[in-house]
Amino acid sequence: MVTAEAGHPVLPAVAHWPAGSGGLRDTIRQEIVARQLDEQISSRYPVGQRLRILDAGMGQGTQALRLARAGHTVTGLESDPDLLKAARESLATEPAGIRERVRLIEGDGRETGVHFLPGSFDVVLCHGVLMYADEPDALLAGLARMLAPGGLLSLVVRNADALAMRPGLAGDWPGALSGFDSEVYTDDHGAKVRADRLDALTATLAGIAAPLHAWYGVRVFTDGIPAQAGLPAAEELDRLLAAEDRAGRTEPYRRVAALLHLCGVRG
Ligand SMILES: C[S@@+](CC[C@H](N)C(=O)[O-])C[C@H]1O[C@@H](n2cnc3c(N)ncnc32)[C@H](O)[C@@H]1O
Repeated sequence: MVTAEAGHPVLPAVAHWPAGSGGLRDTIRQEIVARQLDEQISSRYPVGQRLRILDAGMGQGTQALRLARAGHTVTGLESDPDLLKAARESLATEPAGIRERVRLIEGDGRETGVHFLPGSFDVVLCHGVLMYADEPDALLAGLARMLAPGGLLSLVVRNADALAMRPGLAGDWPGALSGFDSEVYTDDHGAKVRADRLDALTATLAGIAAPLHAWYGVRVFTDGIPAQAGLPAAEELDRLLAAEDRAGRTEPYRRVAALLHLCGVRG
């Protein structure tokens, strides 16, 4: 677990991560996405309302467990048995009241219809999953069908419009030049994965009856830091997050963020 030591803070979004998954870059992503998501939830639902939330491709379950701790009923769907096991182990350390609000299911986000009835959820998360999808529109359409009317689809994707930024800021000119006009990105594990453009996803969301309601950038300034860099001291991290939070919601900065957080609302 990420622990408070030597003045390092424990952030609400990442306090219960399993060891090894909480470098600074991931911490920033989870914390900024958490703030943006909470803003969208609190602008749509009364404080204290217990929402039904589906986290498709929940991974280690950072957001799922955070939302369960906040009082919501959370279903985590994950296709990787090892990550599901890690999420189960994290969940096992939670108090009973939280454990009983979380359901973890091994399954495929493309087959939500096998597990759930249409309209069963108020909020559906799909964070960091679209980059691995061969048919992203079909995946998104299936997830949107799981939303009740007025429900929120929260989507975090790699921003194809900003692929030249990381190599360019590092002085890697061939890398920067190949980032323009590309929709393929090499992830931290060396895999080639898809990136998405805001305009194309806006059209997709409109086409699946969950039109774009709000969007943010995630990691505007800090995408170039090494994946395993540790957390700075609390005060510096606070300032870093304040700057990232502001940039992620401000033109033109949010457009060149490494990741986009799109929020569609089911009509
Ligand atoms: C980059 S991780 C993101 C995890 C988590 N959502 C987060 O934001 O931290 C992507 C996760 O999606 C899962 N995944 C990818 N495709 C999936 C699918 N079709 N159905 C279910 N899970 C999937 C992977 O196994 C992995 O755990």
